[in-house]
Amino acid sequence: MFNGRFARHRAAGYRRRGLDRTARRMVDLLAEHGLEGATVLEIGGGVGEIHLELLRRGAASATALELSPAYDDEASRLLAEAGLTDRVRRRLVDIATDPAAVEPADVVVLHRVVCCYPDYAKLLGAAADHTRRALVFSHPPRNAVSRAVVATQNLFLRLGGREFRTFAHPPAAMRAVLAEHGLRPLAAPSGRLWRVSAAAR
Ligand SMILES: C[S@@+](CC[C@H](N)C(=O)[O-])C[C@H]1O[C@@H](n2cnc3c(N)ncnc32)[C@H](O)[C@@H]1O
Repeated sequence: MFNGRFARHRAAGYRRRGLDRTARRMVDLLAEHGLEGATVLEIGGGVGEIHLELLRRGAASATALELSPAYDDEASRLLAEAGLTDRVRRRLVDIATDPAAVEPADVVVLHRVVCCYPDYAKLLGAAADHTRRALVFSHPPRNAVSRAVVATQNLFLRLGGREFRTFAHPPAAMRAVLAEHGLRPLAAPSGRLWRVSAAAR
């Protein structure tokens, strides 16, 4: 799913228009809670536009975790264009299955990632355990429309012989995982298509 073509498309979109609206909300929210000198962990960061913006707004360094290596070339180009290459480490690690391989960070971000991962409790639990200050993630709402969209997407994925599936996990249960891992909820502005949830230690 997440191949070189997808990565080029995402990088071109970012060069043309900057962050999408949901990502902007997430970055603004983290900036309100203080980014100066912060370390960032972005899980499923794609070409890296969110941690790039967080670095521009005062964060010190970032680690980007991905499952797909297809973003690396575009991500390196974007970092070089921004003069931020030395401040980002990209790694192919699944924090949900290998949490000990990842260092904690002050702020943790997952944009449109939980909807691509079956075990949200494991993923968000590991993300929360790695959060020193604040965590923010975006996710689809769970309603009749989103469930129909997910079911349709998954039908086409299955017919196309793909293993990948999408998910509209229950938002309250996802937020409960963060609370179980010691984070308290923060108010977060949300759009209609993508919701934002945030929590702090
Ligand atoms: C829909 S893409 C979103 C990429 C980027 N955040 C964006 O909004 O453009 C979801 C990404 O999450 C990554 N991903 C899913 N589960 C992950 C995990 N457990 N650890 C790291 N990356 C993960 C996938 O490889 C994929 O690139």
